[in-house]
Amino acid sequence: MSDTYHVVAALSEMSEGHQMYIELDGEEILLCQHEGEYFAINYFCSHAEFGLEGGSIRDGCITCPYHGAEFCLKDGSVQAPPAFEGIKTYPLKIVDETIAISSVPNPAIPG
Ligand code: FES
Repeated sequence: MSDTYHVVAALSEMSEGHQMYIELDGEEILLCQHEGEYFAINYFCSHAEFGLEGGSIRDGCITCPYHGAEFCLKDGSVQAPPAFEGIKTYPLKIVDETIAISSVPNPAIPG
């Protein structure tokens, strides 16, 4: 495993819809479970930089609890205004019943 990956949680800590704040090498990340998959996205919305934690998750997207912007969990792309820029996402691996996240974001956010 690359040095940029860090174990951040046990699988047993996450249940469907669960969200967890992670601080990793200065990056602030929201770890989410949705439909049996795990996603690591930027903690903050690109609209007004409020936290996305607590936003509802449906059909692969998280809705910002403040003004309703939606982002794809997989690639961070904007799915609904008022945000117009995507958010960062982070590579994630499951290792021995734990979740490891890389502090180096995935390249380029589409749209
Ligand atoms: S801060 Fe997220 S939509 Fe405004």
